[in-house]
Amino acid sequence: MKECTLLMPLDMHLHLRDGVMLETVAPLTSYTFSGALIMPNLVPPLTCKADVIAYKKRIMSALGQVEDVEAELMMDDYFEPYMTLFYQNYDAKFLEDIQDEITAIKLYPAGITTNSDGGVSSFDIEQMRPTLEAMSRLNIPLCVHGESEGFVMDREAEFMSIYELLASNFPDLKIIMEHITTKAAVDMLDKHKNLYATITLHHLLITLDDVAGGMMQPHLFCKPIAKRPEDREALLHVALNAHPKVMFGSDSAPHPQDKKESCGCAAGVFSAPIALQVLCELFDKHDKLDNLQTFISDNAQNIYGICPEFKEVGLIEEDFEVPLKYGNVVPMYAGKTIKWSIESVV
Ligand code: DOR
Ligand code: ZN
Repeated sequence: MKECTLLMPLDMHLHLRDGVMLETVAPLTSYTFSGALIMPNLVPPLTCKADVIAYKKRIMSALGQVEDVEAELMMDDYFEPYMTLFYQNYDAKFLEDIQDEITAIKLYPAGITTNSDGGVSSFDIEQMRPTLEAMSRLNIPLCVHGESEGFVMDREAEFMSIYELLASNFPDLKIIMEHITTKAAVDMLDKHKNLYATITLHHLLITLDDVAGGMMQPHLFCKPIAKRPEDREALLHVALNAHPKVMFGSDSAPHPQDKKESCGCAAGVFSAPIALQVLCELFDKHDKLDNLQTFISDNAQNIYGICPEFKEVGLIEEDFEVPLKYGNVVPMYAGKTIKWSIESVV
């Protein structure tokens, strides 16, 4: 039976929500990941230091972790929530004051996805310049949800001109193209040295056909929408070969079952509890299991300059039946059997 050991897995794009949902989903990630980049699109979004600190505390307490350096050192199963701030045009003084509390700032075009109404409504580079120059100087990465307001299948490709503008105007700013879904985005990676990307599990597996080609599959509906087979091929190519500028970011985005299975389905795929197992299955299928460590942790450590807590996860090629629900959230592949299971976590 095949086995795989992963050290310090990192999920560099994760939605944990708040309240009961946070309590349901946070332990599912902290069980197997050393840390995750936590998205700030709460209602209201995280736009100040006090809110970021308070949210981090709620995450820690949902995990039974206390925020105390001494206690942290004694815990054998510590999970690091790498916090983010919701992008607005902030001044340098504000950023200097908050920099130690955050790992990145997340930019959403206004209204493009769940809870993004307070995002950027026009990409006026001169208006954004003071913020982006201060971020460059302070070495705060900019994570971007890159979609235009155009036709849904073209939104990401249309956004490439904005990435060009940002990358060339701010050469010292680390820009992460979040959850890329197209060949166009993959091609951008090698055009600018300061562009990086996260790739989700679901975009490595599905195309639009899986969402809407037969009966509508609400639990696979997300933003950006899954694209064409040739786009998925391009994503697979860089992920499986552990391209140094790509890293894993699940974009696991839980919504209550009634918000997904309803008229006006909320966007988001809840993949956290199956992420590592399915990645093993996928990398193994392509005979690339040796590259998974780089994709799941090493690249993120290099790109973000982070040193996660030690965690060793053992996976084994053994059937795992995905539960139908976690609380009131339906996971990706609910009720299906996947070929790899978690065997141990140290
Ligand atoms: O599908 C998505 N769900 N895409 C996003 O960008 C946001 C996320 C959410 O927060 O539900
Ligand atoms: Zn997201």
